Amino acid sequence: MLADFTHRFVPGRDPSGPVLLALHGTGGDENDLIPLARLIGPQAAILSPRGRVLEHGMPRFFRRIAEGVFDLESLRVETMALAEFVSAAAAHYQFEAARVFAVGYSNGANIAASLMLLCPEVLAGGVLLRPMLPFEPESPPDLRGRRVLMSAGRRDPLVPAALTERLAAVLEGAGATVTLAWHETGHHLTPREMEQAARWFVAGREPA
Ligand code: MLT
Repeated sequence: MLADFTHRFVPGRDPSGPVLLALHGTGGDENDLIPLARLIGPQAAILSPRGRVLEHGMPRFFRRIAEGVFDLESLRVETMALAEFVSAAAAHYQFEAARVFAVGYSNGANIAASLMLLCPEVLAGGVLLRPMLPFEPESPPDLRGRRVLMSAGRRDPLVPAALTERLAAVLEGAGATVTLAWHETGHHLTPREMEQAARWFVAGREPA
């Protein structure tokens, strides 16, 4: 339901244009990724929910047991709730549900990955910043026609490189077109990769 997530919605220039589902990192909120989403899709609508789980007062999109160790039941429940929220938002704000792209950072990138694995119909693709494989799917989802940019930091102390590579392999195995970009940095985002994400997003919307 729409009221299940505190959120912001910023209309786009074109009601039939893309919608960026902005998903913040641990301790963020619905305001955090609006500027980044605006940079990536200057004309796009933005739907930005706040994660419903609190960890020592910090909003997240699902519980974790320790750093990098996820509570898989919480992840499943919150992924389903987010999928329902996106569908309710599409009806309420009157945007095309088939044109929703995630822009997720860290914990937000991980729930975006979970959405792709559990509810592959929800996202047309996305920009996943510092993502990792949240779990091994029991059966591969059908992600044909989906475009995903993954942006990773070579010196990221929080995200094991092997789990980033594994996510890319799983998404590709499911039929998605994946670009995995490694940057000589840590967990924090750099202006360069944000601009790269903006170029990647625009390029995908140009007719072939
Ligand atoms: C997660 O919990 O999703 C990852 O460890 C990233 C983060 O710290 O948010």
